Amino acid sequence: MRFDVDGHRHDADPQPGQVLRTLLRDQGVTAVKKGCDSGDCGACSVLVDGDPVHSCIYPAHRIDGRRVTTAAGLGTPDAPHPVQRAFADAAAFQCGFCTAGMVVTASTFGPDDLADHHRRLKGNLCRCTGYRAIEDALAGVVNTTCAAPGDAVGTSVRAPAAARIVSGREEYTLDVPPTGDVMSTEALLHLAVLGSPHAHARITAIDTTAAEALPGVHAVLTWRDDPGVLFSTGRHESRLDDPDDTLVLDRVLRFRGQRVAAVVADSVRIAEQACALVEVTYEVLPSVHDADAARAPGAPLVHGEKTTAEHRIAEPGRNVVAALHGETGDVDAALATAAATVEGTWSTGRVSHAALETHATRGRFDDEGRLVLRTATQVPFLVRDEIARVFGLEPDRVRVVAKRVGGGFGGKQELLTEDLVTLAVLRTGRTVQYEFSRRDEFTVAPTRHPMRVRVRLGATADGTLTALHVDQSMDTGAYGNHGIGVMFHSVSESVAVYRCANKRVDAESVYTNNLPSGAFRGYGLGQVVFAVESAMDELARRLDLDPFALRRRNVVVPGDPLVVTDPDEETDLHFDGSYGLDQCLDLVQRALTPDADTAARDALLPRMDGPALDDSADWAYGTGMALAAIATLPPRGHHAHVTVELTAGGRYRIGVGTAEFGNGTTTVHTQLVATALGTTPDRVDVHQSDTDATRYDTGAFGSAGVVVAGKALYAAATALREQVIARALTLVADATPRTASGVLGPAAVLGVDGVRVGDVHVAFEDLLADGPLVAHGQHDGTPRSLAFTVHGVRVAVHRPTGEVRVLQSVQAVDAGTVLNPEQLRGQVEGGAAQAMGSTLYEEVVLDGAGRVTTDSFRNYRVPKISDVPATQVLFAETHDPLGPLGAKSMSEAPYNPVAPAVANAVRDAVGVRPYRLPMTRDRVWALAEEGTC
Ligand code: FES
Repeated sequence: MRFDVDGHRHDADPQPGQVLRTLLRDQGVTAVKKGCDSGDCGACSVLVDGDPVHSCIYPAHRIDGRRVTTAAGLGTPDAPHPVQRAFADAAAFQCGFCTAGMVVTASTFGPDDLADHHRRLKGNLCRCTGYRAIEDALAGVVNTTCAAPGDAVGTSVRAPAAARIVSGREEYTLDVPPTGDVMSTEALLHLAVLGSPHAHARITAIDTTAAEALPGVHAVLTWRDDPGVLFSTGRHESRLDDPDDTLVLDRVLRFRGQRVAAVVADSVRIAEQACALVEVTYEVLPSVHDADAARAPGAPLVHGEKTTAEHRIAEPGRNVVAALHGETGDVDAALATAAATVEGTWSTGRVSHAALETHATRGRFDDEGRLVLRTATQVPFLVRDEIARVFGLEPDRVRVVAKRVGGGFGGKQELLTEDLVTLAVLRTGRTVQYEFSRRDEFTVAPTRHPMRVRVRLGATADGTLTALHVDQSMDTGAYGNHGIGVMFHSVSESVAVYRCANKRVDAESVYTNNLPSGAFRGYGLGQVVFAVESAMDELARRLDLDPFALRRRNVVVPGDPLVVTDPDEETDLHFDGSYGLDQCLDLVQRALTPDADTAARDALLPRMDGPALDDSADWAYGTGMALAAIATLPPRGHHAHVTVELTAGGRYRIGVGTAEFGNGTTTVHTQLVATALGTTPDRVDVHQSDTDATRYDTGAFGSAGVVVAGKALYAAATALREQVIARALTLVADATPRTASGVLGPAAVLGVDGVRVGDVHVAFEDLLADGPLVAHGQHDGTPRSLAFTVHGVRVAVHRPTGEVRVLQSVQAVDAGTVLNPEQLRGQVEGGAAQAMGSTLYEEVVLDGAGRVTTDSFRNYRVPKISDVPATQVLFAETHDPLGPLGAKSMSEAPYNPVAPAVANAVRDAVGVRPYRLPMTRDRVWALAEEGTC
């Protein structure tokens, strides 16, 4: 079969039943991405003879004699397609994994099609942006600009990878062919996993004979091959933050889908065929699927045998991974005397990260016999260290490389594929690849922790809070990865943000036989903030107070201690230096004012499809708001060690361990370095997330990329500046007779092409002739600041259907100094869009026996371009002395206040309060029915 791809002739015959996406990937066409393999996400979009198709469901044999165009063939690097240029100009991507498919589809739009782009782009999902910037690109709006030398901070410079991303040339995890520089030239082997059919079972016998006999099979791995070292898939700076409860291949299976066996074969298809030939005998054990039932006496124990301190499980005999019970003052007494009280129990659903790039790892031995893992991770150094520990290797015998990662949101702070690939490489000595399917992402990869949160509030008649009690329990699933950290974090800033003499917190993280939960944007705060901010709204109603006024009366202000339940607890949290919560409240309240003269708001009128709004009784209208605070980085240490070096031609090379997965830190890092060195960001070359090529970094999570690695880079760049100037002064002094006083005259000025000392220009090449110029920097992430967000919405609730239509969405954020306005706006919009999804419809649904029933994008609804209300983004003006040039982090925070703001607006509209997320149409319909009774 002959066909043309991007102007190149290919001769290849597809395998029976093969789809176009995999045929193209087999041909080395990496601009075609894998997002779902079911025709739902559009990451694989290509043109066949000019018509857009999803190549993952397009029969490969149909391209015989035809012409295929990918993003890489739309234009050339020097002459990109107008749509590609527009996406780059508008900053219409974050991780960029959707972008190649997005530009392919958009390239088919004519001028008359733009009004119809909601329908025409509905097959292309973006998990990161919230779509506003993509809409800007389609409309030709330019959101990026160039920066003058030394003046990059505060400007919306574009991402260094923009040109590569819009042209499909950016390399993601598996986009380097096995013959690439990191990988072996030998044939690639593939790994597939046989998952448990039971929620709780013990393997009593396993026969791999038939599987091993299948031609093309190289190894079948079972619990007998396990290295026997317990670990956690959740990774943190301190490995002691998570319980040691996981084996690479365990004999006891604690959730449906858990690894029973892994097959390494010549192809994925052979590996999957062999999995079906593995004969397993199970002893089925009783299972438990609810956090309350799991703590009841006599409940099945998920890790009941792990009773020693080394496992770090609080109460294995009660299925409790971690617990916190504390009180300051006397909550019950305060409630008894309060003028108004509120009590309620809120619950939140299980949410999938749904990053478009699935988890994947490719591993091999290099020429020196070192293990090399190329993997989709946010934490390459933490993966290296744990893989070395589990497999008994020296850390310097392991190299972990993460190129650009196609979305993370915390989901790639887990070690999910690297361990099996390591085991397979050690067994076979070959290059092995393991790539999650979209179904794996829904059924095996950790989700957001579902929580049940009971809140009790008490206040005086003037609205002064006198009692605050949060009683939280969360389902951490079959393993405790992040089950401890999420629990503590969920009840930290959500409680500390309010001044109150009497506070009590009860929190427990509970094992069940459901799929594991894990780290997800906001790290537990969003769930508890939903409950606390809903309760605060109800308190305002009972006291007949404005909800903004109630917040202003009770939020912490500079000088207040940040107290959860122990006033004497030592904390490294500070917010005195940058406090913008008051501004955020003012900004959102003004934006929600009905007669506010805000052209920006009017430009963001609803774009969601559906029945027309009118004044009939069918529609109920309401307004709501909520606030949230979050530390700017995780506690207990977060380290970045960086390098900045002057290279030939007046360029700078930075080495930074943190990964880029759409968080935008790479762009900001170039801005910080360029500002310190008086140059432009395009002269800064970034080398990152390679444990061989960069120095240690804890990783990209907890919003730390700007405030830890960024601060370290700015310090290193400042130090390099001093070095460069000092060497220039020395050179000039050596070549120029000194004055009698020895003074050289005018100060040296660092420019983009060298250093000027008085009238003398010293070129960078002359400076480098005396040896390299390189500076190191480091930051350990302490002390920490608080960032703030306030969200406001106006909604219309359609009583006959339960539809919640967001008419206005506004979020004000205190991110300190705004380093890149467009990028910050994008992070807020993306976080708000993700939150809208999990507020209104996204939910990983399990049946009562731990079986996931929403295992594809068909039945797990990720917001489409037509679903997302535009969010107006407003910035408080503060300067944080703890952050780089006054900046604070802002990538998790935007998620947290959205759900309660919407819930409060729905309450305002229909008169009945929602207590459960997501607020699906059927649930809201039931509420509306109740409200009209
Ligand atoms: Fe669209 Fe990440 S930028 S999925």
